[in-house]
Amino acid sequence: MFDKEKKIAICSDHGGFKLKEFLIKELELQGYLLVDYGCFSQESVDYPDIVHPLAEAVSNRQFEKGIIMCGSGNGIQMAANKHRNVRAALCWDIEQTQLSRRHNDANILSLPGRFIDFNIALQMVEVFLNTEFEGGRHQIRVEKISKF
Ligand code: RB5
Repeated sequence: MFDKEKKIAICSDHGGFKLKEFLIKELELQGYLLVDYGCFSQESVDYPDIVHPLAEAVSNRQFEKGIIMCGSGNGIQMAANKHRNVRAALCWDIEQTQLSRRHNDANILSLPGRFIDFNIALQMVEVFLNTEFEGGRHQIRVEKISKF
């Protein structure tokens, strides 16, 4: 059976499509199994249609982590965060990505496909997949996020 930690859900809208294709290629070379929820071309799509199935799968713990991207990273992150147990962080540099894991236990990384260098994005994904949550006082705060 495939190591669960190496199985990652990924998706984008048309604004993040090129970055998604780049990340899939690079991460597969590193031994990750990417489950691609779309989109599958640069044709215009509505990001909620693409991200809701992925976010549901993370919410149901079918995946520990997901990577999502649209043009700005905003819309797709907003839709993902509507799901119970999902903590999607919009990040654009490495330190911020580290903090999203250490302090917020983010389980989805959202990337701005039209505003980020692809090699930086790859480094951010590596950091996201390999940084542990610190717990402690941050655990208490994370537990307070889901109010309803
Ligand atoms: C698509 O043009 C663009 O609006 C979308 O990728 C994203 O940036 C929305 O937040």
